[in-house]
Amino acid sequence: MAGATGTYNANLRVWRGDDTGGGLQDYTVEVNDGEVVLDIIHRLQATQTPDLAVRWNCKAGKCGSCSAEINGRPRLMCMTRMSTFDPSETVTVTPLRTFPVMRDLVTDVSFNYEKARQIPSFTPPKDLQPGEYRMQQQDVERSQEFRKCIECFLCQNVCHVVRDHEENKEAFAGPRFHMRIAELDMHPLDVLDRKDMAQDEFGLGYCNITKCCTEVCPENIKITDNALIPMKERVADRKYDPIVWLGNKLFRR
Ligand code: SF4
Ligand code: SF4
Ligand code: FES
Repeated sequence: MAGATGTYNANLRVWRGDDTGGGLQDYTVEVNDGEVVLDIIHRLQATQTPDLAVRWNCKAGKCGSCSAEINGRPRLMCMTRMSTFDPSETVTVTPLRTFPVMRDLVTDVSFNYEKARQIPSFTPPKDLQPGEYRMQQQDVERSQEFRKCIECFLCQNVCHVVRDHEENKEAFAGPRFHMRIAELDMHPLDVLDRKDMAQDEFGLGYCNITKCCTEVCPENIKITDNALIPMKERVADRKYDPIVWLGNKLFRR
């Protein structure tokens, strides 16, 4: 039964291999009270497979490094308690599917860093010096939620736009980075117009608001409802508002 206490031996299935190929391998590993999947992976590494590659850092759900798929669901290994599984159940740990495998549970997530680099950074008005920034809490209330992101890339991994379509990676930045664009677009001191950029350069139109990204976010950020949908509305206002349309026609240079 799930929630069992005491020590037992778990059936663990782990993907082993590298960029040339690999497969699932079965292990039996001891589990103690209160342990998480990362503890079991570490015990496996310490006792049976010293060459097992796994990325982790804080073991506290804050660094975003230990992302993997556990029984097919994108999760943080350090935040997934073994007590959520039945002791007789086989727990399968595989690398993130959307990014290329380097070795075992470690994937190359550089796609995300490339997208991050492409987004123009916070741009305050030119005549405003550091120290002169003034904002009300209510001005930043909405975008503050997005700052909780730990860059685990679980949302990027689960989004079907890129998960099953490698060919979309160039055109689509993914939920984490559309959230970043929304954060800057909602920022009261950012002077760049991020709407056309979101749509034309980062492929916001590919998102069909399935909310899978929101479901896997370990920080419980409402990515779809609070960032992606509002951003789509901002883009639509821009494109289809008759006054904006007329203004663009009259004043286009
Ligand atoms: S809501 Fe959009 S960004 Fe999030 S998983 Fe679905 S398609 Fe991807
Ligand atoms: S938005 Fe959530 S799921 Fe996506 S990278 Fe940030 S913390 Fe991870
Ligand atoms: S090890 Fe840092 S989030 Fe899991």
